[in-house]
Amino acid sequence: MAIVTVTRRMRFNAAHRVHNPALSDEENVRIFGKCNNPNGHGHNYALEVAVRGPVDERTGYVIDLGLLRDVVEREVIEKTDHRNFNIDVDYMRGINPTTENIVVEMWRVLAPVVQPGQLIRLRLWETENNYVEYEGE
Ligand code: NI
Repeated sequence: MAIVTVTRRMRFNAAHRVHNPALSDEENVRIFGKCNNPNGHGHNYALEVAVRGPVDERTGYVIDLGLLRDVVEREVIEKTDHRNFNIDVDYMRGINPTTENIVVEMWRVLAPVVQPGQLIRLRLWETENNYVEYEGE
């Protein structure tokens, strides 16, 4: 049976302040620069969710991409879109919202809920030029 990877791209907008409370204010400014602005700043993010699995003989699908869209919408996008990662987003509570940390926490949310496929990669675009990838390690 053929094993295929399917990917759904979802967009959302959110604000964050990159800040590590374990460091001094001076260190935060030195490390994070403008991203440490006390009142935060926003990004137009895009999240690509890649799911891998056998192609079902009856449907010809790995997973119905409409179902994948719905589950990502419900579990991640609705909790995140037009919100502030530092304040509003339950799965980021207490975590410095760098793109790296966000993608890892999104993985924890999504990995259990994308059956019958298997989550194999998340790619989170923070800007047109920067993205991070996580494969669950
Ligand atoms: Ni930023």
